[in-house]
Amino acid sequence: MKFEGKTVIVTGAGSGIGRAVSIYLAKEGAKVGLFDLNYEGACETAKEIVSTGGVSMPQKVDITNKDMVFKATEAIVKEYGPLNHWVNCAGYSKIIPFLEHTEEIWDRTLDINLKGTFFCCQAAVTYMDKEGGTIVNFSSQSGKKGTNSYAAYCASKFGIIGLTQSVAVEFAPRIRCNCICPSVVRTPMWDKQLHDYANKKGIADEAVMPRFISNTPLARLCEYEDVTNLVSFLLGKESSYMTGQALNLTGGACMY
Ligand SMILES: NC(=O)c1ccc[n+]([C@@H]2O[C@H](COP(=O)([O-])OP(=O)(O)OC[C@H]3O[C@@H](n4cnc5c(N)ncnc54)[C@H](O)[C@@H]3O)[C@@H](O)[C@H]2O)c1
Repeated sequence: MKFEGKTVIVTGAGSGIGRAVSIYLAKEGAKVGLFDLNYEGACETAKEIVSTGGVSMPQKVDITNKDMVFKATEAIVKEYGPLNHWVNCAGYSKIIPFLEHTEEIWDRTLDINLKGTFFCCQAAVTYMDKEGGTIVNFSSQSGKKGTNSYAAYCASKFGIIGLTQSVAVEFAPRIRCNCICPSVVRTPMWDKQLHDYANKKGIADEAVMPRFISNTPLARLCEYEDVTNLVSFLLGKESSYMTGQALNLTGGACMY
C-alpha cells in the first residue's frame, strides 16, 4: 500500500473532496486525522473508513481558529506519530454579484479559505516528521482566472497559490508544498450553490452541469478519482522534483 503507516491530516474531511481524499488515503494504509467543523460529517467519514479496515480519528476543528488547529494536530501526532502529509480541503464558496458581496461574506470566505489554510500550513510544518513531508492545498480554476460573481472566492483561491509558493520556498527541501486547481467536482458545495448559479445565468438547475461539460475540452466533469489520483501523485515520491506548483485539473478548461 502506497501510504502504509503514514500519518496524514485532511481538512474538510467531513464532505465532498476531503471525504474522498481521506477514504483513499486510509485505503492506501495511512492513519488519517479527519478535521472538520462539521464533526458529524467527519464521524461519517470515519465510519466508512472503519468499514474497510482503515484507521482514522475525527476531530472537530474550526480551521480559522489557530489554537484549535494546533491542539487537534497535537492530538493526532500523539496518537499516530509525526506527520508525513497534510491535505487542506476545507473551504467555502458563495456565488454572489460583486456589488452584493457584504463584508461578512468577504471575511467569511477569506477567513476559511485563506487564513484557515495558512494556520493549517503553520501546523503542518511545525509537526512534520524531521525527515520531511508533503502538503497539498486546494485552490481552484478560480485561483487562475477571475470568475463572474465569485470575487471573494477568487481572491481567496489566488491567495492560496501565493501561500503555497511561499511555504514551498521557505521549507524546501525538507517539505514540499503544491496545490490543485480543479474545475467543477459535483460535491455538496456545488449542490448548495447550483440554484444560485442557474439563477445568475437565467437557466434551469438541470442545465448547469451540461453547460460546464460543453465548455470543457475533455467533455466531462472532474470526478473524485481524478482528484485522488493527483493528490496521491503530489503527496508521493513520483512528484519529488515538484514544489510550489499550482496544477490545473480542469479537463482542459484552463490551460495556464
Ligand atoms: N467542488 C468543486 O467543484 C471545487 C472546485 C474547485 C475547488 N474546490 C475546492 O475544494 C475544496 C473542497 O471542496 P468541496 O466541494 O469538497 O466542498 P464541501 O462543501 O463538500 O466540503 C467542504 C468541507 O469544509 C468544511 N469546512 C468549512 N469551513 C470550515 C472550517 N472553518 N473549519 C473546518 N472545516 C470547515 C465543511 O464543513 C465541509 O465539510 C474546497 O477548498 C473548494 O474550494 C472545489
